[in-house]
Amino acid sequence: MRPTPPPRTYRVKSFGCQMNVYDGERMAELLAQQGITPAPEGEEADLVVLNTCHIREKAAEKVYSDIGRLRREDGTAPLIAVAGCVAQAEGEEIMKRAPAVSMVVGPQAYHRLPGMISDAVEGRRSVDTDMPAETKFDALPARRKVGPSAFLTVQEGCDKFCTYCVVPYTRGAEISRPFNDLVAEAHRLVEAGAREITLLGQNVNAWRDESNRGLEKLIEALAAIPELARIRYTTSHPTDMTQGLLEAHRDVSKLMPFLHLPVQAGSDRVLKAMNRSHTAESYLRILDQVRAMRPDIALSGDFIVGFPGETDAEFEDTLRLVDRVGYAQCFSFKYSARPGTPAATMPDQIAPEVMDERLQRLQAALNRDQLAFNQASVGKRCTVLVERKGRHEGQWLGKSPWLQSVHFSGEAAIGDLVEVELTEAGPNSLSARLLQPVHG
Ligand code: 5AD
Ligand code: SF4
Repeated sequence: MRPTPPPRTYRVKSFGCQMNVYDGERMAELLAQQGITPAPEGEEADLVVLNTCHIREKAAEKVYSDIGRLRREDGTAPLIAVAGCVAQAEGEEIMKRAPAVSMVVGPQAYHRLPGMISDAVEGRRSVDTDMPAETKFDALPARRKVGPSAFLTVQEGCDKFCTYCVVPYTRGAEISRPFNDLVAEAHRLVEAGAREITLLGQNVNAWRDESNRGLEKLIEALAAIPELARIRYTTSHPTDMTQGLLEAHRDVSKLMPFLHLPVQAGSDRVLKAMNRSHTAESYLRILDQVRAMRPDIALSGDFIVGFPGETDAEFEDTLRLVDRVGYAQCFSFKYSARPGTPAATMPDQIAPEVMDERLQRLQAALNRDQLAFNQASVGKRCTVLVERKGRHEGQWLGKSPWLQSVHFSGEAAIGDLVEVELTEAGPNSLSARLLQPVHG
């Protein structure tokens, strides 16, 4: 690589989960701290960070084609950094296959980007996929301005080793950030404009503090911040759904009535082959318990169809579970073999047409339930946190306590918490009538 002038502008492109969105925001803040500014809309950036996701489909191939697309007509390219889980999984391989890339940085090492950029400017390429003991959180700059709804990563990594999943390999072992750091960061987020904080982690409910207290203790501490109105957390594992956390849904009014609890499948044989440590019944029992604590709670989940060996009858078990739960919203995916995971080499991989058909049937059931949930909300009064302007003049968009998108017209501003009556339901959003602002 030849030396290049230091980059003046950047663009961070994040793919995949909320954790990546959070990492992307933090990388942007880090670059801004170095005096690099966001590239204006429509203009090429001097430095492009591809913050990649490896969880499904041909993730690595997509990255290579994205890199190819950054090439200019004269054959040159901006400075390119590949970050995120594909960077972690592929490492040196990216350097070999994509000479245009000058930096490859894993999700635990991106606080070292400034040094890597200096190297790249001097013409040296670098790969950093370490999982260093010093955490990136201590090395990152403080957050200055955030939207009304902010993310706070409290936990990273996963020790569960579901047989289809790359996360334990790309994000490493479970680590929890210290209690005091998190409370301090939450205060800073609130000062920077957040009214709602979503606690993030691959296994967020596996978070423990230094004296082994669970997530409910952190939730209680954040609930004591007066200007913070709402708390959420995602993604949870059924195994870590403790009594204390269930009770927080009853006792902490700022904890929103929403639980994202992936189940993946409804057949116990498939769940076992996936190395999920729950059965369909034990999962349903947890949902019963949380509903007893908070009767209006909205439930959400993740599903995989076509796991190796899944029979038609086993897939029907998934549909039956869906019917029993009545989810408010869900994510569902076709199984995709991830190299290096145990399931990738299991016999009886399912044909793509079969997966397509199962996914369609599952999604039809989930869409039906989502619409039914929204329709059942019509007539309710609730608060909406205003997140942005709508498409029409005077229209606002925000979220209900149950994480539904709500639009309404009237006097409001971004960051307001307003009282509305929900008037009409669609599959993906609701309309509402403004009653009165709760906080200005
Ligand atoms: N194939 C399909 N879906 C997957 N997920 C994780 N790994 C795979 C895979 N190999 C899904 C799971 C998980 C969500 C984040 O992505 O449903 O909960
Ligand atoms: Fe992957 Fe399972 Fe860990 Fe979730 S719990 S990140 S699906 S290994």
